Amino acid sequence: MYFSGIQPTGKMHIGNYLGAVRNWVKLQQPGNQNIYCIVDLHALTDKLTIDHEIKFDQNTKSDTLSLAATLIASGINPKQSVFFIQSHVPEHAELQWILSCIAPKNWLNKMTQYKDKKKEYSTLGLYTYPLLMAADIILYQAQYVPVGLDQKQHIELTRDYVQRLNSLFKLNIVEPQYLESTCPKIMSLRDGNKKMSKSDAIDGNRINIDDSKEEIFEKIKRSKTDSIPQIYFDQDKRPEISNLLRIYSAFSNLSMEQVIEKYLTKTTVDFKRDLSELIANELNTIAQKKKQILNNQSELEQTLKEGSMKAREIASKNLKLIKENIGLLV
Ligand code: TYM
Repeated sequence: MYFSGIQPTGKMHIGNYLGAVRNWVKLQQPGNQNIYCIVDLHALTDKLTIDHEIKFDQNTKSDTLSLAATLIASGINPKQSVFFIQSHVPEHAELQWILSCIAPKNWLNKMTQYKDKKKEYSTLGLYTYPLLMAADIILYQAQYVPVGLDQKQHIELTRDYVQRLNSLFKLNIVEPQYLESTCPKIMSLRDGNKKMSKSDAIDGNRINIDDSKEEIFEKIKRSKTDSIPQIYFDQDKRPEISNLLRIYSAFSNLSMEQVIEKYLTKTTVDFKRDLSELIANELNTIAQKKKQILNNQSELEQTLKEGSMKAREIASKNLKLIKENIGLLV
């Protein structure tokens, strides 16, 4: 069973697409059970800003619908995969509470994502974020979790919770495994040592899934490269061009060797133009399908409701088993 999730934070980019979503689509094969979730409760941790005044970003509903349409347009098939919204299945938050009662607090202190994101006024939700993520995975007894490299530590923590549950309560929950795509870490367009990220304040550092052809050409044109005229891969000495080569390879479905051979005698300008064209073509196909899906919002909402009913059937059974074993009256 494959389970994964993505936050509706408004700016899905090609890092999310290549690092996770395209792999989710590939994994939809006969014989595989796939469960994919839009984690709107996780996204709440990203909403609060406290500066001179307290602000709470209210776009979750429209961001959720927009992301659902993007994912279906990218190839997630709700007839083949269980596709749903996290907050429609209350068992997620319920299991999070149970996990918080068996997990030592210091396990959360080592989480790098919390260390990176925490500010002077962080919420408790940001701190306990990994517990909700572990609950997402454990509720479905997922065997594989296809995510980008930045989420690997969370999967390892989930394994620790599973081991603790199993040993404390004689359960037999599956230990989930991190499953990597061919692009586990797409980097920023202007800093090859920094991850492409939704929360990056500079929009030019990433290509958003909703960017227009003109925006894509402009961002790739301005992306950082070095003064060496030849195009070749060298992660350590040339992280920026190596990142663009990886993106090219992923969008063209050519191997790295094939891409390098193709551009051996071409200029960076030629390479960047062709790369822009490749990305723009694929994102344009997604944009066209997404538009059609959003034109029929009630059908989309119905699809998500049906998905959450299927998810709840699995989640409630597994949660009941855990509740019984830990000694609650069910
Ligand atoms: P999120 O919404 O930040 O990102 C969604 C997916 O995109 C991957 N990703 C990347 N991959 C390659 N290069 C990048 N630059 C890049 N940036 C992001 C992420 O690794 C992720 O796979 N905590 C998760 C959501 C979540 C989840 C879960 C995932 C909640 N519960 C249970 C799996 C299972 C997150 O914030 O993803």
